[in-house]
Amino acid sequence: MLSLAPMEGLTGYVFRRVHAECFGALDRYYTPFLPPPRVGKTFGGKAFKELDPANNQGLTVIPQLMSKNADEFVGATQVLADMGYHEVNLNLGCPSGTVVGKGKGSGFLRDPGELELFLQDICSRSALGVSVKTRVGFESDAEYQDILDLYCRCPLAELIVHPRVRADFYKGTPRQELYGKTLERAPFPVAYNGDIFDVDDMDALVAAYPQTRHVMIGRGLLANPALARMAQGGPAMTLAELKHFHDELYRAYEAEMGGNAVFRMKEWWFYAKCAFADPLAVHRLVRKARKAAEYEAAAERVFNEEPLASVARFRG
Ligand SMILES: Cc1cc2nc3c(=O)[nH]c(=O)nc-3n(C[C@H](O)[C@H](O)[C@H](O)COP(=O)(O)O)c2cc1C
Repeated sequence: MLSLAPMEGLTGYVFRRVHAECFGALDRYYTPFLPPPRVGKTFGGKAFKELDPANNQGLTVIPQLMSKNADEFVGATQVLADMGYHEVNLNLGCPSGTVVGKGKGSGFLRDPGELELFLQDICSRSALGVSVKTRVGFESDAEYQDILDLYCRCPLAELIVHPRVRADFYKGTPRQELYGKTLERAPFPVAYNGDIFDVDDMDALVAAYPQTRHVMIGRGLLANPALARMAQGGPAMTLAELKHFHDELYRAYEAEMGGNAVFRMKEWWFYAKCAFADPLAVHRLVRKARKAAEYEAAAERVFNEEPLASVARFRG
């Protein structure tokens, strides 16, 4: 099973829909993290659009929440159940300073006692199955022993392991052996996430951990939109396919946010440039565009002048 990682500003509902139309749907999609609404309220604004079933038709979407307020989390699960969702995911991985400062995301991992009380409470009262996406510690992976112990005492629907600690942010090599340890110990399904950037990475993971049943991919799929298809034995992407995907994505963002579509697309190019033989040349072409016309001319030049890499692979 393959899923698309939640990535704020990158893998929201517009991206999910256009990607599925152009390259086929993945098995699951996770929304970028959302704050639960106040108790008794429903999701509004941006969060509602992200969750609106009309924007997610035909896709299996799992909403991700980030919170340390059990009543708000539980209230949100009822709202999500009423919208037709079957599972909710809790973010215990976000490394951002503001998030961590509030004791949320990976910041919650610093207090395993409080985290266990929270998880036991929300799991017992949630209207939906609760899965968790976690790092393996805050400062050091030595913390994971206690963290994994506490997870194993909770009735989780699934545990998605991104085996980095908060101090790593997105650098260094994921500690895959801690994913292996989780597979051995956990009484619930386990998923892997981190640095699966091409089919060889996927094959190596499965060879090392044959019990692997669910892999979540993020940056690898942004750099190579055909990665999930290739992992299932399908063909690599052509330049015409990438251009079509780009044009559809740009059009969909324009319809959604007008002129801000250019900035959204430039965030996508940070990853998508890796599909080309000369990522730096692509970066130079698109980086200065501010207005729609400049952007469209730059993108046109990329697709007319730059050849694809022999293997599209995210390079940090
Ligand atoms: C720009 C950016 C935004 C992200 N937003 C989220 C998020 O909202 N929720 C979350 O759980 N992880 C988030 N992540 C982490 C990814 O979901 C994923 O765990 C990470 O990129 C490692 O997987 P990968 O190597 O396949 O990309 C984000 C990562 C990046 C780089």
